Amino acid sequence: MPYAHVVGWGKYAPPKILTNAELSRTVDTNDEWIVTRTGIHERRIAGPKDTAATMGFAAAREALDVAGILPTDVDLIICATATPEYIFPATACVIQDMLGAVKAGAFDLSAGCAGFMYALSLGSQVIQAGAHRVVLIIGSETLSRITNWSDRGTCILFGDGAGAVVLQASDQPGGVLSSLVRADGSGGEMLIVPAGGSHQPASVQTVREGLHYIQMNGREVFRFATRVVDRAAREVVEKAGLTLDDIQLFVPHQANLRIIQAAARSLDIPEERIFVNLEKYGNTSSASIPMALCEAVACGRLHPGDRVVLVGFGAGLTWAAAAVQWGAPPERKPSRMRRAIRAAIYPVAAARSRAVRVLRHVEARLFGSPSPKSVDEDGDTKKK
Ligand code: UT7
Repeated sequence: MPYAHVVGWGKYAPPKILTNAELSRTVDTNDEWIVTRTGIHERRIAGPKDTAATMGFAAAREALDVAGILPTDVDLIICATATPEYIFPATACVIQDMLGAVKAGAFDLSAGCAGFMYALSLGSQVIQAGAHRVVLIIGSETLSRITNWSDRGTCILFGDGAGAVVLQASDQPGGVLSSLVRADGSGGEMLIVPAGGSHQPASVQTVREGLHYIQMNGREVFRFATRVVDRAAREVVEKAGLTLDDIQLFVPHQANLRIIQAAARSLDIPEERIFVNLEKYGNTSSASIPMALCEAVACGRLHPGDRVVLVGFGAGLTWAAAAVQWGAPPERKPSRMRRAIRAAIYPVAAARSRAVRVLRHVEARLFGSPSPKSVDEDGDTKKK
């Protein structure tokens, strides 16, 4: 059975910073309350041109560069997001086109803030089953677009960003050692965007009532989170045949410092073995764990061979965890030819995408689109 190794990682944080002090000028809150109740000092806000797809693309591109893998070698792209580009097509498909990942399948995964962990679990099992060799996992969020900026109970928490990892099949033991995914749909209304789906399609009324924004029962979500993080971390560690002492680093979903500290206490893990960066980004939902992983590597807290436990939780309610033996990018330097291909590949992908669209348009103008009546039961176009 092949192992699913993490061989690349990347992140994108939009440059615009929104501090607690700035927030307290528009909503009834203050820096002291936000810091003591959440640990958050500031968050990033997507610029007018940033979307879930553009940010996910930036993170994916960096992850592929670290891995030394070309987009044309990717077999599958899973984008975890609660703020997709559209209801459909999937954000993963938009990113697939931007990357020029021409042989990849692509789909979105909706599991709230646990989305990245669900995708990691699924992606690793696809590799272990032998179905694919290279899987790109992305978490990308533009939560600022669905945040009610006059609701102080939620607007202080969320931020925008994206992160990605590349999983690659290998015969060497390591990579994703164990994972679990869980849900409790009975808690769905605790963290919800009520309108815009088939239950309550968007209308003037739903917009007037602000039902297209995040609604959250903070206290209940807090209680749920403190319960599941401990349980999930212990379960994946045991499933991997390890003990908590074998784990060099814990990277929990970056929702609230108090949730993380409560988990550290109940797991009896010293805080220096827990990675926290929510003070800079707030809660970026499915992007929070891959962004934290990138920063943990960059600041020397996570090294090749280290065992790391990741735990996500969020809307659904969902939670998911994994024990991972951290990988290393390839040691050999890419050849000059490969570097040249890498530099050219994204402009070529953009040009290819434009050319295919133009060609499709021209074809439709010249030959016409087949009408439903001209297609037989087998889906073949009938000859006129
Ligand atoms: O990704 C997963 C999703 N989300 C989470 O993990 C969030 C989990 N929940 C939380 O992080 C916390 O529940 C919050 C940070 C959202 C709230 O913290 P809390 O300690 O649970 O506060 P609370 O809702 O119990 O409110 C305490 C008080 C209330 O005032 P009263 O009723 O005691 O007078 C609130 O009105 O704090 C007030 N309050 C605020 N005050 C200043 C609530 N929000 C604010 C605010 N600034 N932003």
